[in-house]
Amino acid sequence: RPGPAFYAAVGGHETFARIVERFYEGVWEDPVLRPLYPEQDDPGPARERLTLFLEQYWGGPRTYSEQRGHPRLRMRHGPFRIGTAERDAWLRRMRVAVDEARLAPDAERALWDYLVMAADSLVNVQVDA
Ligand code: HEM
Repeated sequence: RPGPAFYAAVGGHETFARIVERFYEGVWEDPVLRPLYPEQDDPGPARERLTLFLEQYWGGPRTYSEQRGHPRLRMRHGPFRIGTAERDAWLRRMRVAVDEARLAPDAERALWDYLVMAADSLVNVQVDA
């Protein structure tokens, strides 16, 4: 599990905040993903939660769990229908955001491999219909 050294090496809060901000710009204009946020005019609160989660996972402050409790991501995504189309759209938007952050290659690979694994694990419907 990554620790504070990883968090510091990639640039700490600023880096995670920038990646997630760019990611949500993409989500907000994505025809597959935008409908998953029907009651939200503003991506701010969702952006905050994802930023805090990623910071915590990658060795930063534990604010996410102080505010939200155990992540239990699979359970928290239960209300959303996530098929391969949603997973692929999520990863496409995240790919752009990670590319633009221009991380060192090793860090980028570690982050990306994790995001792909995590996105796969959150698929909760078997087929896209
Ligand atoms: C929350 C969709 C993958 C982490 C959400 C929400 C949606 C969503 C609609 C609710 C937004 C909100 O917080 O108000 C998806 C889709 C995914 C995906 C379609 C495609 C596979 C991921 C992955 C991660 C992640 C890979 C982590 C690496 C989170 C977190 C929250 C969240 C931390 C907030 C949970 C909370 O504290 O309530 N996601 N997500 N998601 N997602 Fe995802």
